[in-house]
Amino acid sequence: MLSSEDNELLTRVGPDTPMGALLRRFWFPILLGPEIEEPDSEPLRVKVLGEFFVAFRDTQGRLGLLDARCPHRGADLSFGLNEEGGLRCAQCAWKFDVEGNILDLPMEPEDSPLWKEATAPAFKIRDYGGLVWAYIGPQDDVPDLPEFEWTRVPAEQRYLSRFAVECNYMQGVEGGLDAARVNALAAAETGEPPSPGSGATGLGDDEPAHTVRAMATDYGLIIGTALDADGQAPLDVQVTHWLMPFYTTAPADEAGVLEGVAWVPTDDESTMAFAVTYSPKRPLSKRLLADIRRGKRIHPQLAEDSYRRKRNKDNGYSGSSKASFAPFASRFASTFELAVACQETMGTIVDRSAETLGANDAAVEAARKLLMTAAVDLMEGTVPVVVRHGEAYRVRSYAATVERGKRFDEDEGVRAGIAAQV
Ligand code: FES
Repeated sequence: MLSSEDNELLTRVGPDTPMGALLRRFWFPILLGPEIEEPDSEPLRVKVLGEFFVAFRDTQGRLGLLDARCPHRGADLSFGLNEEGGLRCAQCAWKFDVEGNILDLPMEPEDSPLWKEATAPAFKIRDYGGLVWAYIGPQDDVPDLPEFEWTRVPAEQRYLSRFAVECNYMQGVEGGLDAARVNALAAAETGEPPSPGSGATGLGDDEPAHTVRAMATDYGLIIGTALDADGQAPLDVQVTHWLMPFYTTAPADEAGVLEGVAWVPTDDESTMAFAVTYSPKRPLSKRLLADIRRGKRIHPQLAEDSYRRKRNKDNGYSGSSKASFAPFASRFASTFELAVACQETMGTIVDRSAETLGANDAAVEAARKLLMTAAVDLMEGTVPVVVRHGEAYRVRSYAATVERGKRFDEDEGVRAGIAAQV
């Protein structure tokens, strides 16, 4: 449970908010690489953290990211013409290069001071790991790019997608941290109640019975989730990570395939999720790619010509214009997609002052605390350490076994696994 004030602190991401200032200290993905591959291709309008930008690739193949408002009279530059080394505004044809410098001022005298003064605010933008990343914070203080393992594997070893989520980014993050949902949602899909043990075993005998324990690090959280609750030792523990400011990770499957999601705020009430499925060792199999296309993993099927999910709020998650009378949980292609829908059913910004958290919400509580503390610290001038340590993102989820009654973060095997990250 949070106070209403803390809920505001956690969820508001505009330029004049503490959390908005914190998020602006990080690079984050804004587009899939193929969307903006070709020189002189259509400029793309991007909304992120409540602000509009225009992304384009010029004739030389350089990427540019400008404030979408033309500095002349405010026309939207994303409706402009991307040609011959720059972006020409649709209103009165002022033209800018990728750094926001003026290239052309039709109908202005040659000695006009505007040739020197008229610039469009420009921001850092990079191709990286199959995505296009933006940095819209202080442009003279650029952070490291996060060195996720999936950014460094060959393209055939990863699958990337993006999709809109119609609620605040933190609900997506918290859905990705909620270990108990895996059992509960799987049970909902089959119509069976969750097994008695699921969500009810201890990772330390000094703690009340629960499955989840979170350990804070410089980059976020290491999260241990006990899987077997049959009373036998040792416990099987899945170790996953939450990485500042909004990246969630999932355990590896039996083939060693890993997944993660970046929950990038579009504004206070909507999110663009970037999802990755990757194999550290080999190209993704045809079977896995077929599953992905059927929405079986963490890449929901999309409505036509849209980043909106096919099963969305407006169609009651039926996936068509007809009402569905099927049980809610059975309408989705994966428990992940069901979980995203559940986050949306809470409302665009859930009222955390009215919630009732349990022991399984340890990671959710820890992530909130870490983000809010970092936002307050930044107001006092302290920038999060991790923005200068892109290598901190070289982590991988993994499975471990832990003696019953022992804290997972004190277990030698787990600590060795942490130390041996990628
Ligand atoms: S508003 Fe863009 S050139 Fe006039």
